[in-house]
Amino acid sequence: MIVAPAARYTRTAVVLHWLIALLVVALISIGLYMTDIPRNTPARGWYYNLHKSLGLLAACVILLRVGWRLRFNPPPDSHALPAWQTTAARINHALLYLCLLLMPLTGYVGSSFNKYGVKFFGLALPHWGWEDPALREFFSGAHQLIAGAFIGLILLHVAAALYHLYRRDGVFTRMWLRRS
Ligand code: HEM
Ligand code: HEM
Repeated sequence: MIVAPAARYTRTAVVLHWLIALLVVALISIGLYMTDIPRNTPARGWYYNLHKSLGLLAACVILLRVGWRLRFNPPPDSHALPAWQTTAARINHALLYLCLLLMPLTGYVGSSFNKYGVKFFGLALPHWGWEDPALREFFSGAHQLIAGAFIGLILLHVAAALYHLYRRDGVFTRMWLRRS
């Protein structure tokens, strides 16, 4: 099926989508790796700081993406798809956006309740929190729980995208840059 030019995401939406996807895959990989590094080693501190810095960078891009999404509607749903698929995609996308907002928020707030504070690529950010193990545990638990749900949603999302790519039904190309 050939997709009409109008039935695409804007160039900005496409660039932001793939930039966020790249950052999120890196963040999940580093996040899962770093928590297994032995405590009180320089490597652990280095990876934690990298994760927090990339996480804050991702938060900025995510806010841009959400702002863009509120200003510009996505292309209309394809009529060629069964209704259950469009409904499933809408629910999946809404939950992905929720995770995209909650992940950096819980990570940042949780990290603010320790004595180190948060650095952004070496630059110490204002430390408004205090040493509070109970609050840190709460936000850390939420961060880990949401990470699990997020990974599940991403796997579903990628499987659906690859299915559409295989079917060549035009859905995948909506989120790809048009050749000029
Ligand atoms: C890894 C992190 C990813 C996240 C958080 C993510 C998130 C999202 C979100 C929220 C949307 C809805 C856009 C909107 O309507 O505003 C979307 C659309 C889309 N994504 Fe992803 N995505 C990710 C990775 C991928 C990957 C790896 C692929 C391809 C293999 C992909 C393919 C697509 C496609 C084709 C659409 C458009 C679907 C449609 O037109 O209904 N995404 N993505
Ligand atoms: C989209 C953004 C983010 C994603 C996808 C992400 C993902 C993850 C993942 C998958 C883990 C491993 C969880 C586990 O142990 O099972 C993790 C852990 C962690 N993340 Fe993030 N993260 C993000 C943003 C942030 C930010 C902005 C910060 C802090 C500024 C942060 C701080 C931490 C910390 C301290 C841990 C270690 C476990 C904990 O104490 O919660 N993360 N993250």
